[in-house]
Amino acid sequence: MKGLLKKYHIPSAFYATFTDREEALRYIDTQAAPLVVKTDGLAAGKGVVVAQTLDEARAAVDLFMKEKAFGEAGSRVVVEEFLRGEEASFLAFTDGETVLPLPTSQDHKAIFDGDKGPNTGGMGAYSPAPVVTEALHRQVMETVMLPTVKALAAEGCPYKGVLYAGLMIDQGVIKVLEFNCRFGDPEAQPLLMRLKTDLLDIMEAVVDGRLAEISLEIDPRPTVCVVMAAGGYPGKYENGKAIEGLAKAGQHQDVVVFHAGTVLQGDAVVTNGGRVLGVTAIGDTVQEAIAKAYQATAEISWEGCYYRKDIGRKALDRKGE
Ligand code: GLY
Repeated sequence: MKGLLKKYHIPSAFYATFTDREEALRYIDTQAAPLVVKTDGLAAGKGVVVAQTLDEARAAVDLFMKEKAFGEAGSRVVVEEFLRGEEASFLAFTDGETVLPLPTSQDHKAIFDGDKGPNTGGMGAYSPAPVVTEALHRQVMETVMLPTVKALAAEGCPYKGVLYAGLMIDQGVIKVLEFNCRFGDPEAQPLLMRLKTDLLDIMEAVVDGRLAEISLEIDPRPTVCVVMAAGGYPGKYENGKAIEGLAKAGQHQDVVVFHAGTVLQGDAVVTNGGRVLGVTAIGDTVQEAIAKAYQATAEISWEGCYYRKDIGRKALDRKGE
C-alpha cells in the first residue's frame, strides 16, 4: 500500500521498509522520535508500535525481527513518520471506476474513555464525523479515493467492493494511514443504519460495473454505535457468558443491536468473542443518538461486560453541543 501511494503521489506518512534488522536499526539512528514501527504482514491488529523514543523503536524492531513475535509477518518492517491529528474513516463503494462515498464516520480505537489504553478493533463509532468538513470531503475524494482506485486499475488489479481509507487529519491536511478492502467494524453499523438504498442493489451494481447508475440515499440524522466487549478485551477474555436484556434493548425505538461475538447455546445467546455487540441508535441530534444508544446498552449485561462511556463525545465537542 505504501509503495502504491508513493508511486501515485497519494498523501501518506513518509516511510522506509527493511528486511534486514541491522539496516532498520541504523536507519532509526538517523531519525527523530516519535516513530511508528509496523510489521509488513498481518498481525491481528497488533503489529504496530508507536515508539515515543528511539529506544522503543529499536525494541519494536527486535520484537518483530529478532524475537519474531508475529512470525513471518515481521520479516519485513515499515518504519514510518508519526502523524498527529484526528482520525476519520472514509468508506466508499467502487466498481473499479466510479467511487460512491458513504457518509463519514469516526471510530474509537482505544479501550478506555478519553482514548486511553491499548488499541482495539474499535470500541464505538458515529456518523457523520464533523472533522471531515465538506471541503475536506471533496479533497479526500480528489486526492485519495479516486486516485487510489485509478492507481489500482493502472497496476492491473482493478478493485471492486468497499474501499475503506483510514485517514489522519491535521489542520486541514489529510494523510492516509491505512486501506482496508472491507467495511470498518464498528463504522459499518452507524453507516448501514443511515443507508436507505438497498445494499444488495449497490453490491450488484459494483459487481456488474454499473455503479454510475446508483445514487445513495442517506438518512441525514446522525447515528452512534456503542461496542459492548468482553471483560479483559483486548487482552485475554472468556467466552460463553449468558447475555441478559437483549429482548428489552430490542424494544427501544431507533435502536439496532448488531451481533458480532455471540453464539446460540440452546435458546440462550452467549458471548463468543472480544467485541460482542454493537448497540446502534439514530437520533435527530448526536446528543439524542448517544442517549438512545446508551439507554439500550444499559438494558444489556453479562458477567464482566465492558463498554466505553464517552462514544460520540468528540462529535459533540466539535459541534459545540
Ligand atoms: N474499526 C477499524 C477497522 O475496522 O479496521
